[in-house]
Amino acid sequence: MYEDRGRLAALWESELEVFRAGRPRSAEQWERAVQHMPDGVPMLWMSKWPGPWPVYVENAAGAHFTCVDGIDHVDLCLGDTGAMCGHAPRASVQAIQAQLSRGSTFMLPTEDAAAVAELMSERFRVPVWQFSLSATDANRSLIRYARQVTGRPRILVHDYSYHGTVDEAYATLDEHGAVVSRRGNIGAPVDVAQTTAVVQFNDVESLERILAAGDIAAMLIEPALTNIGIVMPDPGYHDAVRELCTRYGTILIIDETHTFSAGPGGLIAELDLRPDAVVLGKSIGGGIPAGAYGMTREFAQAVRDSLHLEDIDVGGVGGTLAGNALSLAGIRATLSEVLTPEAFAHMIDRCTEWTAGVQAAIDEFDVPWQVTQLGARAEYSFRPTAPHDGREAAEADDFELQQYLHLHALNRGLLMTPFHNMALMCPATSAADVERHTVAFREAVVSLYG
Ligand SMILES: Cc1ncc(COP(=O)(O)O)c(C=O)c1O
Repeated sequence: MYEDRGRLAALWESELEVFRAGRPRSAEQWERAVQHMPDGVPMLWMSKWPGPWPVYVENAAGAHFTCVDGIDHVDLCLGDTGAMCGHAPRASVQAIQAQLSRGSTFMLPTEDAAAVAELMSERFRVPVWQFSLSATDANRSLIRYARQVTGRPRILVHDYSYHGTVDEAYATLDEHGAVVSRRGNIGAPVDVAQTTAVVQFNDVESLERILAAGDIAAMLIEPALTNIGIVMPDPGYHDAVRELCTRYGTILIIDETHTFSAGPGGLIAELDLRPDAVVLGKSIGGGIPAGAYGMTREFAQAVRDSLHLEDIDVGGVGGTLAGNALSLAGIRATLSEVLTPEAFAHMIDRCTEWTAGVQAAIDEFDVPWQVTQLGARAEYSFRPTAPHDGREAAEADDFELQQYLHLHALNRGLLMTPFHNMALMCPATSAADVERHTVAFREAVVSLYG
């Protein structure tokens, strides 16, 4: 906990002044926008960016964007992974433009479909694929499929996980270990305890107890938590997860939407995991909406056997534009030409430098914070050691401190991922981009602890 709240409040005020002085055109845009959108933003969560109004983007390329006030930014947020491929990557843009000029949505497959399913199978180790417009929808679809083939009602998630706007995943454990709604869960359709069981990350004992009850259709997990800070798995944790899911007949879904940052085949390839189903989204489309969910042949066959052709379009898994030609063209180009193994090697090197820069400032000023790297993504948190589970990570949260650090960075032309202290590298991120953060971060630490 940062103790000197008076100092923090004063620092915040002075950064607010810098922001206001430097962003008049964004202010004009925002004044217009508040007339017709709540908080002046097209999605309400955009109002959570630090500062009195959001920054409006003029254009972006690679790891940088320029705002309407003409300020150049190093983008370490990268659309919270939606632009992990970099902004407007040439190969993806060319393929998307070419498809767009030939038509984009037909309710029929194009030649890209089989090629993309092959690419996904090679990378993420399950052989049968379906497509969606978002990772959220991919998760929702797999949850339905898992209930369908197991005949079981509940889904198991990790405490403080995030899997998109999936009703079942908005659950947490209270201090007595009971399943309750996550703070801020908007208009929950039913009591989450009816649909969901929750286990702490790395807690094998509780995991076995929950699965043994025999009512869990699917365990939906990130292989490392990335949405409450980064929480890495203990050695052997995933072996236990796999073994217990198999033993108790639960479908194991690994959501790689963010952990794809670990390498070309995500953490599945890095840790040699064997899921029954896999979810990808965000970055794979090269900047346009695309999601994907893969299954083992056995699971996919069980799903298919349970469905009648006549009802296949109205069963609750679908989306008129899902699997559209544009998304598939984007995925094909992005996986084959942008997010290549060589690109990942570069991204991970930059991230190692970024992490070292943060660690150096933490060490120099003996700050009680830690930083964790997961391939091309890294995150610092306000606790001295890496968190072991979601609850520990959540307890280290300090909203005001985080808002200050984000605004401090923004005023120096650095965009951090909102909602937490995460930075992501894309193939175009340079050593100079990373150095800009290293310098600014040290300066922020000096302002708080110097
Ligand atoms: C692990 C994970 N899964 C799924 C999603 C949902 O992605 P989208 O909002 O693009 O549907 C997110 C979003 O942050 C995520 O972090």
